[in-house]
Amino acid sequence: MKKIALLGCGAIGTQIALSIDSGKIPAVLTHVFDQSEDRSNKLVSKLSKKPEIVKNSHLLSSNNVDLIVEAASQDAVKDVALSVLQNRKDMMIMSVGALLDESIFEILYDACKEFKRTIYLPSGAIAGLDGIKAVKDELDAVTLITTKHPRSLKGAKFFETSDLDVESLSEPTVVFQGSAKDAVSLFPANINVAALLSLAGLGSEKTSVKIIADPNSITNTHQVEAIGKFGKMSFIVENIPDENNPKTSRLATLSAIERLREICSQDIHIGT
Ligand SMILES: NC(=O)c1ccc[n+]([C@@H]2O[C@H](COP(=O)([O-])OP(=O)(O)OC[C@H]3O[C@@H](n4cnc5c(N)ncnc54)[C@H](O)[C@@H]3O)[C@@H](O)[C@H]2O)c1
Repeated sequence: MKKIALLGCGAIGTQIALSIDSGKIPAVLTHVFDQSEDRSNKLVSKLSKKPEIVKNSHLLSSNNVDLIVEAASQDAVKDVALSVLQNRKDMMIMSVGALLDESIFEILYDACKEFKRTIYLPSGAIAGLDGIKAVKDELDAVTLITTKHPRSLKGAKFFETSDLDVESLSEPTVVFQGSAKDAVSLFPANINVAALLSLAGLGSEKTSVKIIADPNSITNTHQVEAIGKFGKMSFIVENIPDENNPKTSRLATLSAIERLREICSQDIHIGT
């Protein structure tokens, strides 16, 4: 069975760890790290098979593990991803926005080749990435319209320089319209799907993003429209927010669990 190390013991990391512990993912969770010791302890207390809590994130990949699962932050990816590959371990990344930094992307892309390792990016909170990947060379335009309750956008860098008081809105309001590149930099913890769409399709400057704050919304909704020589595609996903982190959609966690289950299984793999 594959040995997994987990970086980040929050909403997604906890559910992944529980899925390994229950046997749903056929793997062993051997090491965990979170910058909050409380979070690591709390997670380990929920597991019947106890992983070791390491003292820093770099110790995850220096141990005898096969794959590091990142469910922490863009900073965590920038800090450890290269050393994970250099230590000849695979990696699954949830904080995908980190890869829109072109220098990070290129370094990691080259390192995957050099060290013969794989980085996995689960589809996260959207559906249809399989289709976007398949028609990549025939795409003319890709648009993402994301609608979230203001509390799911709270704390984003965007609001540091905006006069908009997102919490006092009484009707749906467009808070951002622009490129995926700018969306990911201004809403780093809220719009990983824009990064995934960009990487799968037209790149971050040509992928358009609109973010709507809707005080009446009970879902994190992502609507994707793609058009090109191949025809037209549209997908809409109305996600239930995670009960522990409203910025994260339940589907993002489930997608990570399914991707990891596939990586760890000798199985029939469905979809692209
Ligand atoms: N790919 C997607 O579609 C998708 C969807 C939702 C969330 N995400 C991303 O996945 C990541 C995890 O999401 P979550 O809902 O579990 O978040 P969370 O806030 O519930 O948990 C994150 C945990 O990581 C820890 N952490 C943060 N930075 C760290 C660092 N540098 N080193 C060690 N620990 C660190 C925090 O203390 C926290 O316990 C976030 O970056 C989020 O933006 C991606």
